[in-house]
Amino acid sequence: MGYMCLFQSHWSCILLLLVMSNLLLCQGNPCQSCGPDVFATSLRSLTDLFIDAVRLSHDFHNFSLITFNKFDEKYAQGKLYYINVTKSCHTNSLHFPEERDKVYQENNENITKWALVLLYSWNNPLYHLVTELKSMKELLEDFLSSTMKIESMSEKLQALIESHFSKIVLPVLNTMHNASSTWSGLPSLTSSDEDRRHSELYNLFYCLHRDSHKVDMYIKFLGCRARKMC
Ligand SMILES: *[C@@H]1O[C@H](CO)[C@@H](O)[C@H](O)[C@H]1NC(C)=O
Ligand SMILES: *[C@@H]1O[C@H](CO)[C@@H](O)[C@H](O)[C@H]1NC(C)=O
Ligand SMILES: *[C@@H]1O[C@H](CO)[C@@H](O)[C@H](O)[C@H]1NC(C)=O
Ligand SMILES: *[C@@H]1O[C@H](CO)[C@@H](O)[C@H](O)[C@H]1NC(C)=O
Repeated sequence: MGYMCLFQSHWSCILLLLVMSNLLLCQGNPCQSCGPDVFATSLRSLTDLFIDAVRLSHDFHNFSLITFNKFDEKYAQGKLYYINVTKSCHTNSLHFPEERDKVYQENNENITKWALVLLYSWNNPLYHLVTELKSMKELLEDFLSSTMKIESMSEKLQALIESHFSKIVLPVLNTMHNASSTWSGLPSLTSSDEDRRHSELYNLFYCLHRDSHKVDMYIKFLGCRARKMC
């Protein structure tokens, strides 16, 4: 660009710089006016996408619920763990709604973002959960295989959303960066104190079932809109 400016008048050079900086801004920053709407894809491919996504998110939620209930029944009921359920989900700072009427007021882009932020926020805890469950001898084998299935469903769902709405990934990462929803339970999960380990497991399974319910609701809502049924 410096080379071109040598051969042009002062004003056209400034104009060129302005145009270039706008182009660069639009590339780095997914502003709404710079490209087509993320939902402006063909209705057919959108319908196909949501048939798969709705099935996956339903199973993701169902498995998380079953796993939490099983853990609660086998390892928590009747045992006096010190549990801080509602205060200690690492995704609490995100404040995404659980009420249908609040979701109804939002546009598709925001709802898709929430689903993806929640799924991304679980990648790290799920990874450690699977790793630690592999070495925990005291738990039933079931918990490892269920958690691995849950992790795999979450990954598939993320890949599906990313493949259709790639423009949303950068704003999603920004939202996560600002919300500081980092999971910090690893020291508890790897503690030598069994009560502490089991409390963390309880919290993780509880929070996962809660968040998977939100993801499922968001995806079903989007699927319903894609089919113009709500
Ligand atoms: C949840 O998963 C279990 C085990 O795979 C299955 O038996 C059950 O029908 C599922 N429930 C729903 C509502 O999909
Ligand atoms: C439980 O919640 C209380 C009050 O918010 C907090 O002070 C405490 O550190 C929490 N404990 C754990 C283990 O998270
Ligand atoms: C989408 O989310 C942004 C950021 O949270 C918010 O400012 C905006 O009002 C939302 N849009 C709609 C239509 O809900
Ligand atoms: C994140 O924070 C930065 C700096 O405060 C702000 O400029 C940006 O708009 C925020 N992004 C989102 C998605 O909230």
